[in-house]
Amino acid sequence: MTWIKSIKAIQVLDSRGLPTISCKVSLGCGVQASAMVPSGASTGTKEALELRDGDELYMGKGVDKAVANINDIIAPLLINLDPRDQKLIDQKLVNLDGTSDKSSLGANAILAVSLAVSHAAAKNKKIPLHIHFADIYKDITGHQVSPNLPMPMLNILNGGEHADNNIDIQEFMIIPKRASNMKEAMRWSSEIYWNLKSILKSEKLSTAVGDEGGFAPNLQSNEDAIKLILRAIEDSKLIPGKDVFIALDCAASEFFKDGQYLLSGEGRSLNSESFADYLEHLVDNYPIISIEDGMDENDHNGWKILTEKIGHKCQLVGDDLFVTNKVIFKNGIDEGLANSILIKFNQIGSITETVETIHLANTNNYKSIISHRSGETEDTTIADLAVGLGAGQIKTGAPCRSDRVAKYNRLLWIEEENIELNISK
Ligand code: PGA
Ligand code: ZN
Repeated sequence: MTWIKSIKAIQVLDSRGLPTISCKVSLGCGVQASAMVPSGASTGTKEALELRDGDELYMGKGVDKAVANINDIIAPLLINLDPRDQKLIDQKLVNLDGTSDKSSLGANAILAVSLAVSHAAAKNKKIPLHIHFADIYKDITGHQVSPNLPMPMLNILNGGEHADNNIDIQEFMIIPKRASNMKEAMRWSSEIYWNLKSILKSEKLSTAVGDEGGFAPNLQSNEDAIKLILRAIEDSKLIPGKDVFIALDCAASEFFKDGQYLLSGEGRSLNSESFADYLEHLVDNYPIISIEDGMDENDHNGWKILTEKIGHKCQLVGDDLFVTNKVIFKNGIDEGLANSILIKFNQIGSITETVETIHLANTNNYKSIISHRSGETEDTTIADLAVGLGAGQIKTGAPCRSDRVAKYNRLLWIEEENIELNISK
């Protein structure tokens, strides 16, 4: 029997220089472990609440209240409990909060503790975190998963809310699909990233980067962004549509106004049907195999149109649409919306609920993609989560900036230390 001896949180800074929470858990056996929570910018409206102070400090974005909630309210409740029982810990946290959106204690406070406890438990068990996550999945669902290395989706060109350029689509990602392992996937991605930088320079375009480390030049159209990436793939002596594919995150809720999709960078305004046609045109003309949030989170009719139109030939990922919430996700499955789900544990606020949502995807033939947030830290928990649950895909930004590459670097070590794991295709 091991037990939680103390829990302590402090306010630290994230990759945008804004406050977030770092939480440390100490066990009776002497083990200590900590974790930090990420933060989104283009958030779904139904996400669990991220508690911010709202006072004059840090433009209202301080997290002192959430930190105090951990130190003064949560910590006393969890002392003496077994950290290996993640389900029980998370249940206690959820019950203590008592709201459906975690607005009482804050999802950031609850998640910080949930994550730090999982790290401490893995250390106590003397096993890597990804193996502990596979154990947690079994505890919670009664089912065994097959761990594997996720295929990365790397965001190398940023627009929307994550950059100050004129591109409406938020993320243009590369998927190094034919790479035989993580090492090769990262080499290809780095080479493509650097070749893209050279192309941008030669075209006298900006090589400044957005929040997720991708370049953020001003361009004529979304299609121009795709063409630049194709050139960068070819310059890397790789074949688009064979070795490397493209994925988009439209984050369409950000430019959906009064029933219209406003592509201000292109000076166009499209209704749901026409925007679905626009996306179909992209899928038919470029090696695009995944589109996230192709419609606004409340435009379910648009989602139906899009799913019927291209769901058979393209992965359609619900991010703002499902917000990692199993109730919202279940309704979406019943309505036939999308065919995949983006998994962000801070959208729901605990490991247990995240695992339950992934299980729902697994049992309904939806793919899960484990994801970072645009505001990140050096915390690498999502890399272990993706491996341990055999999710198959991860998106965690460009192969650049430490907050992004920390996760890829963790995957490289997991690959090195687990020769039996293959990269998911
Ligand atoms: P966010 O963006 O973290 O700013 O919400 C990431 C995404 O939309 O996938
Ligand atoms: Zn998204």
